[in-house]
Amino acid sequence: MTARIIDGKAFAAALRQRIKTRVTDLKARTGETPGLAVVLVGEDPASQVYVRNKGQQTREVGMNSFEHRLPAETLEAELLALIAKLNDDPAVHGILVQLPLPRHMDEQKVIAAIDPKKDVDGFHVVNAGLLATGGQGLVPCTPWGCLMLLKDTLGDLTGLKAVVVGRSNIVGKPMAQLLVRESCTVTIAHSKTRDLAAECRQADILVAAVGRPEMIRGDWIKPGATVIDVGINRIPAEDGKTRLVGDVCFTEARQVAGAITPVPGGVGPMTIACLLDNTLTAADRIIAAAKY
Ligand code: GUN
Repeated sequence: MTARIIDGKAFAAALRQRIKTRVTDLKARTGETPGLAVVLVGEDPASQVYVRNKGQQTREVGMNSFEHRLPAETLEAELLALIAKLNDDPAVHGILVQLPLPRHMDEQKVIAAIDPKKDVDGFHVVNAGLLATGGQGLVPCTPWGCLMLLKDTLGDLTGLKAVVVGRSNIVGKPMAQLLVRESCTVTIAHSKTRDLAAECRQADILVAAVGRPEMIRGDWIKPGATVIDVGINRIPAEDGKTRLVGDVCFTEARQVAGAITPVPGGVGPMTIACLLDNTLTAADRIIAAAKY
């Protein structure tokens, strides 16, 4: 059997179209345009590419994009002052501070300064807490995108056994929370897990978010399982150039899995689409709350 390939690129494009329609409706209904502020501190090349793509896709769905580029030597207090200004700005409905931040800044302190209602990354402890307790907050974009792909592939997830490999605040932990919310039985595995392969073999749903190129092999996968590969790793290729691979060995895994996301073109494109979805959700809620 070869696995069905889950086309995240096409799913994300369709999601952006639906968001564009909802933005048009919101504008017609309220006269307001959702706005996303993205803050980049320093010159990290990968972050610069992400921020450029975010700005472009934000404008494409009809939202306002506000970009703030600050030099690497910006003081933490200056960044906190900018966040306070964005919190108070009625034209801004979503705030994203691109990570990683320069080493002299305390990421947790910076995230804590963002108004939770505008925290479109879903990283604020209030949003993490709401996710953990069944509330309605904003959910981190990458796991939110993974869940959309899973539900599109499998329908109802109730009772399925899910293994999430990776325990980061950005992907692993919120992914596990989302899967529990869908009534899956969830294991969070990580670098210290004993017999990781055996844990993975139990999974009907396997989510790999470890950042280790092709670590998960074909014989770690239960036949017919759905595999979501969050990893994006650049490795040397035979021709002297580089290529992108996931955390799962795709050529092996596709012989065993029932469905699998490719890298690139799987989870990656979903992240920005979900960021736009979160920005629209935040705008909807802020605009509705201002009316009463
Ligand atoms: N850096 C890499 N991924 C992300 C993300 O999802 N959000 C933010 N803010 N920074 C990132």
